[in-house]
Amino acid sequence: MNAAPKDQLGRPMRDLRISVTDRCNFRCSYCMPAEIFGESYKFLPKPDILTFEEIERIARAAVRCGVTKLRLTGGEPLLRTDLARLIERLAPIEGVKDLSLTTNAYLLAGLAGSLKDAGLQRVTVSLDSLDEPTFKTMNGRRAGLAPVLAGIEAAERVGLSPVKINCVVKRGVNDHTIVDLARHFRGTDTIVRFIEFMDVGNLNGWRLDDVVSQKEILASIGAEFPLIPVPPNYAGEVATRHRYTDGKGEIGVIASVTKPFCGACSRARLSPEGKLVTCLFASDGFDMRALVRDGKTDDELTQAIQKLWGARVDRYSEQRTGQTPGTRKLEMYHLGG
Ligand code: GTP
Ligand code: 5AD
Ligand code: SF4
Ligand code: SF4
Repeated sequence: MNAAPKDQLGRPMRDLRISVTDRCNFRCSYCMPAEIFGESYKFLPKPDILTFEEIERIARAAVRCGVTKLRLTGGEPLLRTDLARLIERLAPIEGVKDLSLTTNAYLLAGLAGSLKDAGLQRVTVSLDSLDEPTFKTMNGRRAGLAPVLAGIEAAERVGLSPVKINCVVKRGVNDHTIVDLARHFRGTDTIVRFIEFMDVGNLNGWRLDDVVSQKEILASIGAEFPLIPVPPNYAGEVATRHRYTDGKGEIGVIASVTKPFCGACSRARLSPEGKLVTCLFASDGFDMRALVRDGKTDDELTQAIQKLWGARVDRYSEQRTGQTPGTRKLEMYHLGG
């Protein structure tokens, strides 16, 4: 079998997104609604979660299958104790060209320096609004803006750059604040990406009517600050790029609903308990933890990934209809974005 397999649609495996915890200190309405994830919610017990050593073994096997980009996600990855120790294990893996982290940045200010020293290259921060009440509505009233903005500044200061900002746009909730968000980061090196609200998971009450389309997002921002499209940085980039005509930087839009990008999707995801998942909208994954804890060799781990990826046919976003299908999907807080 080819060491770097292609799936049934000819797509290689290039990215591995590793969710290191299912816990989060926020309760974003589109991800972990507070009414469901209350005090008594049972998160994964510690013994079920992969250790750093287990994550490293699986990541190394994925790199042998062609992966060059690793991204740590959650839940909120900064809640995982000693995360820098994991980064120290992943950064030196030969073949890893990009090692990044997606975070809500609430705890980032205090950790940015040690993450950078451990070998992290850059961060993406989830930030849905700069209007304090709107921000709080989006995050389930868990947090104010000040620590998040301090986290972004710290990331820039220590060189975890380019810092990217992910803003999920939900109609009637934060869409009135997107121009301000764009304005705030205009003229800086920070790139804001606006994400169409997606039907991930089963809990966020997704309706097509709540989605603000790429077209609408670009029209709102472009009306204030004229924009022109820019070619992608690399094949399969999920965000479309648009730069300000006056040279003050660029924004991105992730239009997974109105302009799906499954055709070049090279992303695999590893859940905190070791399920390897081949699509964000999958209902289950392949149990890598069972293999690791069963004493399988590195070659056997690699072969298992090759086989899984070789059989892959996923292209959910391209097949999506207006209705959410009946099958239960994995939740984003668990699987990572
Ligand atoms: P860069 O490496 O910086 O270009 O990052 P990225 O484009 O992989 O961005 P990031 O990991 O921040 O992803 C941004 C968001 O896009 C995620 O949080 C998801 O909401 C969405 N997204 C990423 N990958 C996929 C995917 O495979 N399918 C779908 N439908 N959405 C995705
Ligand atoms: N639709 C779009 N983006 C989402 N994210 C989480 N849930 C959704 C959703 N339903 C984004 C978060 C974060 C990243 C991990 O995924 O804002 O930036
Ligand atoms: Fe937490 Fe991110 Fe989900 Fe918000 S989107 S609840 S910050 S994991
Ligand atoms: Fe990839 Fe699935 Fe997203 Fe399509 S819907 S881009 S196949 S993760």
